[in-house]
Amino acid sequence: MSGSDSRGSTLELEGIVKSYRRGKERTLVLNDVSLTVRAGEFVSLIGPSGSGKSTLFRMIGGVEKPDQGRVLIDGEDRTGHKGLISYMPQQAALFPWLKVEDNIRFALVSTGTPKREAKEQAAQWLERIQLGHVAKEYPHVLSGGMQQRISFLRALLMRRSVMCLDEPFAALDALTRADMQRWLLELWEADRRSVLFVTHSIEEALVLSDRIYVLSPAPATVLRELVVPFERPRRADVWTSPEFVELKREVLRLLEEGHSGTV
Ligand SMILES: Nc1ncnc2c1ncn2[C@@H]1O[C@H](COP(=O)(O)OP(=O)(O)OP(=O)(O)O)[C@@H](O)[C@H]1O
Ligand SMILES: [Mg+2]
Repeated sequence: MSGSDSRGSTLELEGIVKSYRRGKERTLVLNDVSLTVRAGEFVSLIGPSGSGKSTLFRMIGGVEKPDQGRVLIDGEDRTGHKGLISYMPQQAALFPWLKVEDNIRFALVSTGTPKREAKEQAAQWLERIQLGHVAKEYPHVLSGGMQQRISFLRALLMRRSVMCLDEPFAALDALTRADMQRWLLELWEADRRSVLFVTHSIEEALVLSDRIYVLSPAPATVLRELVVPFERPRRADVWTSPEFVELKREVLRLLEEGHSGTV
């Protein structure tokens, strides 16, 4: 089920600037953000709350346009184009009028799976995230974490060559979160789509990523790009190594410096 015809693409953000008008004032949210996700790479974005990470994702998804700068996919200017990436927004976005299984079927059918197969596959995928028992429910009766898992599955099944995930596991308990991370890694290692992943958990970013961009508080700029050197597939005990602890300390220090720089 995880075989893919869509390998990763390169995503480049060039000098993205975005501000919003609030009343008479204009607030600068993104201040010249440039970053790259190479084909098949797993890249995380860490930054303080309100630094502009979700805003950046909306630029990449083409839902909003930057004031300045460009979004390039495989070298082509795709600024403001929708439908080119699979995108999981921070708030689980399921169709409330469709049952859980139909939300998943929709993702499968919209990317070319024949209807009859989609029904069977949706049931199998829901079993894999241990939500087979809610297949016939409507989203509003599920817990926030369940909705988040289904929303994540839907983004995954959209099968675009770039996947943008905005804190996909934030609402999950520790064990379910660890399960979902393992599952994501397993799937990603099998078909290597390019991933840009937002998280507030430094450990999560270190366990999953090839590289990490640390953002400053708003207006966001890239403070640092870090390479995560651990071999793949990642070992289950990677977080116990001294290098891991050292990198974690460095990211924390960057976030603290950025934070104190603003007071
Ligand atoms: N449509 C909008 N109109 C006005 N301000 C906005 C709009 N969208 C975002 N902002 C502002 O931009 C800033 C960045 O918001 P954003 O949601 O991108 O932050 P974030 O880094 O994703 O934070 P978190 O980690 O809490 O999810 C905030 O101050 C927010 O109020
Ligand atoms: Mg956000």
